[in-house]
Amino acid sequence: MNYRVNPLFSAVAPPPIAEAWGWIAGRTFPDDKPLIDLAQAEPSYPPASQLLDHLAEEIHRPELSRYTDIRGIAALRGAFASHLSTFYNANIKSDDVSITAGCNQAFCLAMMALAGVGDEVILPAPYYFNHDMWLKMLGVTAVPLSFQADAGGVPSVDEAAAKITERTRAIVLVSPNNPTGAIYPPDVIRQFLDLARARGIALILDETYKDFLPSDGAPHHLHQAPGWRDNLIQLFSFSKTYSLTGHRVGGLVAGSEIIAEITKGMDCAAICAPAVGQAAALYGLVNLDDWKEEKRQLSLKRLAALRDAMARNDLHYDVVSAGAFFAYMRHPHAGKGATVVARHLADNENMLCLPGAFFGPGQDAYLRFSFANVEAKRMVEIADRLVASQAAF
Ligand SMILES: Cc1ncc(COP(=O)(O)O)c(C=O)c1O
Repeated sequence: MNYRVNPLFSAVAPPPIAEAWGWIAGRTFPDDKPLIDLAQAEPSYPPASQLLDHLAEEIHRPELSRYTDIRGIAALRGAFASHLSTFYNANIKSDDVSITAGCNQAFCLAMMALAGVGDEVILPAPYYFNHDMWLKMLGVTAVPLSFQADAGGVPSVDEAAAKITERTRAIVLVSPNNPTGAIYPPDVIRQFLDLARARGIALILDETYKDFLPSDGAPHHLHQAPGWRDNLIQLFSFSKTYSLTGHRVGGLVAGSEIIAEITKGMDCAAICAPAVGQAAALYGLVNLDDWKEEKRQLSLKRLAALRDAMARNDLHYDVVSAGAFFAYMRHPHAGKGATVVARHLADNENMLCLPGAFFGPGQDAYLRFSFANVEAKRMVEIADRLVASQAAF
C-alpha cells in the first residue's frame, strides 16, 4: 500500500467473528460430530414466509428502489413509535424516531454526534466489541466498568459515577446484554439515567434484544422520567426480531436536537436505510406479533434447555448469566486463557464459541455461547462435548 491509513483504524484488531471463523476455515465435520456454531448471534430460522411473500410483491414498486427520507419512511417511523409506546407504556412520537441501516449504524452515528478525539465514554465490561472498536476508531477513550459477576453481570452505578470526568460524553448500556445475556433491573437502568441527567451526559441504551425478554412487562420505565429526551438515546434493531440481519434496518429514539445532528451523519453515511429493509420492518411491525411471540418462546425454551443441560454434576462450567441470545460461561481451567479454551473446543470438539477476551479486559475466565442459534434438543450434546474436553487441560 502506497499511502498512509488513519492510525486510529490500523490500531484496532480485525473483526472478531471473522477471526473465530478463521479457526475452522476449510475444515469439514463428520456426521457423528457436526459443527455446533455458538459464535454469531443470528437467528437460526428464516424470516416469516408471509414477510418474504410481501417483499416479493413490493419489490416491483418503484419506491422500493429509491432513496427514502433520511430518517426513514414516515409509515415505518409511525408504526415503530406506536409499537414502542405500547411496549414501554409510554408516549413515544414519530418525531422521536429515526430509522438507520441497523443498530450498529445507529450507535456509530450517535457516537460521532456526541464525542470526538480525547473524549471519554463509559462502557461496562464485558462489552459488545463493535462498540469498543468504533470508539477507538473515533479516538474516543472507552472507560470500562468492572464486570460484576456476582451481581449477574449488572454494572455498578456507583462505579460509573466515580468514573465520570470533564471529558465524559456518555454511558453505554446494553440490555439484554451482549455478551452476558444479563437483563438489567428497571430501577438500575433508571439510576443510570438519573446519573446521566445529574452529570449532563447521554445515556445510550442498546435494546437490540428487547423482543426476547422473559416477561411481558416493560423492561424499564425511563419514558416516565421527566425530560427523558434530554439525556436518553435508545438504539434498536429489526435484525434479530424478524430475522432480517442482512436487510440492515434498525433505529433510534432520542430528543430532537441530537436527532438533528445524527441526521446530518446519516445523510453522509448512507442517505437512508435500505428501502427494502424498511418495508420488511414495517410489515413485521404491522403483521407479525404472533410470529415474534413464537420466536420469543422458542428462545426461552432454548435457554431453559441450556440451563438444564449445564446442571450436570460432572460439568465444571458455570452459567454466570444468560438471557435473550447469550449465555456467559465461566470455564473451569484456571490459568488458561479463554482463547486457548475456545480454540480447543473448536479444534477438538467441533464447537465454535467466542472467548471472553474478545469482549474486554479481565474476561479470560469466560466464554460467550450464542445459544439461540442452536435447537433445544442439542443442548445436551453441548454439555457432553464440554465434559469430554475437560480432561484435556
Ligand atoms: C448489542 C448489539 N447491538 C447491535 C447489534 C447489531 O445490530 P444490527 O444488525 O441491527 O446492526 C448487535 C448484533 O449482534 C448487538 O449484539
